[in-house]
Amino acid sequence: MRTQVAIVGGGPAGLLLSHLLHLQGVDSVVLERRSAEYVQQRVRAGVLEQGTVDLLTEAGVGERMRREGEVHNGVHIQFDEDRVHIPFKELTGRAITVYGQQEVVKDLTERRLADGGRVLFEVDDVRVAGVDTDDPVVHYTHEGVPHELHADFVAGCDGFHGICRDAIPADVRTVYERVYPFGWLGILADVPPSSDELIYANNANGFALLSMRSATISRMYLQVAPEESLDRWPDERIWAELSTRLGAPGFTLQQGPIFDKSVTAMRSFVAEPLRYGRLFLAGDSAHIVPPTGAKGLNLAVSDVDRLAESIADYYRTGSETGIDTYSAACLERVWRVQHFSWWMTSMTHRFEGPDAAFDRRLQRSQFDYLGRSAASATTLAENYVGLPLR
Ligand code: FAD
Ligand code: DHB
Repeated sequence: MRTQVAIVGGGPAGLLLSHLLHLQGVDSVVLERRSAEYVQQRVRAGVLEQGTVDLLTEAGVGERMRREGEVHNGVHIQFDEDRVHIPFKELTGRAITVYGQQEVVKDLTERRLADGGRVLFEVDDVRVAGVDTDDPVVHYTHEGVPHELHADFVAGCDGFHGICRDAIPADVRTVYERVYPFGWLGILADVPPSSDELIYANNANGFALLSMRSATISRMYLQVAPEESLDRWPDERIWAELSTRLGAPGFTLQQGPIFDKSVTAMRSFVAEPLRYGRLFLAGDSAHIVPPTGAKGLNLAVSDVDRLAESIADYYRTGSETGIDTYSAACLERVWRVQHFSWWMTSMTHRFEGPDAAFDRRLQRSQFDYLGRSAASATTLAENYVGLPLR
C-alpha cells in the first residue's frame, strides 16, 4: 500500500493530523494498535485550551464539543482552607472548555471514517524503516497478514510507549526527563460537580483536584504514591480524603457512585529533536507533562496543527521551510508548557524530604502572591488558557 503520510497511532494526535491533512488534500493512513472501542473508552484529559477549541471548530469537528462542552471562565486554587479565584476571561479574554478527550477522539474517528479516511485498528508488529531515505516504509500485521505501507513521510503519533521515537538513532537524540515521587488516583463518579469551576487544592495530606465531565458526572484526582495499588483505596477512603483535601468554609463535597478508578504516574519528558529525516514525532511520543497544567492533549494538538501545515505547504509549494523548522518551533512551546506544568505541580503537591517544611512555606508564599497580584494571576491564566498556537 502507498500513501503520502503514514501515521502511527490513532489517539488524538494521529486522528487530528489525518483530518487536517485531508482538509488540505493530503492523503494519509492511520495505523492503531488498539480497537476503536478501546481508544474511545480510554478516560484521560478533560480540559481544552481556547486555541484547541478554535482549531477543532475551524476544522469542522467541533460541533458536539460546542454543544456539550462546558466553557469555564476561571479556576480556583486552594491552599489549606483558603481559595483564590483566577478569572481567566477577565485577565486574558480567553477561556477553557471542559470536554472529555474520549469525546474528541470519538468525534475525530467518526469524521475520518465518514470522509472515507483509512484508519486501521488492531494492527500489530508496527515497525518503521528507511526514515533517513526518500522511501520510508512502515511494516505491520493486520488480521494476521503482514503488510508494508510506503509513504513520503511518517508521523509518530504513537504516544509515550510507542515505537517511533526509537527510530531516531540514539546518537542524534537527547532525552530530558524528571520523574515525580507521586502519581494521581483519578475517579469518575455519578454525582453533580460540587463546584462550577475546577479546584486545584494543596492540603497537608497532598494534592486534590475537583473537575467534571458534565452536570451529572464528577472527575476528581488525589495525589498518591506513584505505584499505588487501587486495593488500598476503597470508595469510602477516596471520598474521605477528597473531603479533607478540598475542605473549605461553606464547601460540601457531594458524593456518589464511583464508576471508574485508575492511577497514573507523573513525569516530565522531552525527546529532541522531533524530526529525523522523513519521520516526525507529535504529541506524547515526543513529550510528556505532569497533568497538573492540563496540557498534554493541547500540546499534541499544537504539534499536529504545525505538522499538517508544514506537510501541506511542502506539497503545495515544494517549500521545505515548514518541515525544516517543525522541531525547533514545536520545542519552543513544549518547553514553555513544560515549565508551566512543573510550576503548577510544584505549587500544589506535597513533597517529602529534608526541605519539606521550607518548600511548604514557599508554596504558601506563591499562593498568597497569586491572590494579591494581578500580574501573578495573569501569568497563571495566560498559560492555563494557552498561548496562541502559531
Ligand atoms: P495517545 O493518546 O497516547 O495516543 C497514542 C496512540 O498510539 C494510542 O491510541 C496507542 O494505542 C497507539 N499506539 C501506541 N503504540 C503503537 C504502536 N506500536 N502501533 C500503533 N499504535 C500505537 N492533557 C490535557 O491536555 N488536559 C488534561 O486535562 C489532561 N489530563 C490527563 C489526565 C490523565 C489521568 C492522563 C493520563 C493524561 C492527561 N492528559 C491531559 C494528557 C493527554 O491525555 C495526552 O497528552 C494525550 O492523550 C496525547 O495524545 P497522543 O495522541 O499524543 O497520545
Ligand atoms: C482534568 C485533568 C487534568 O490533568 C487537569 O489538570 C484538569 C482537569 C480532567 O480530567 O478533568
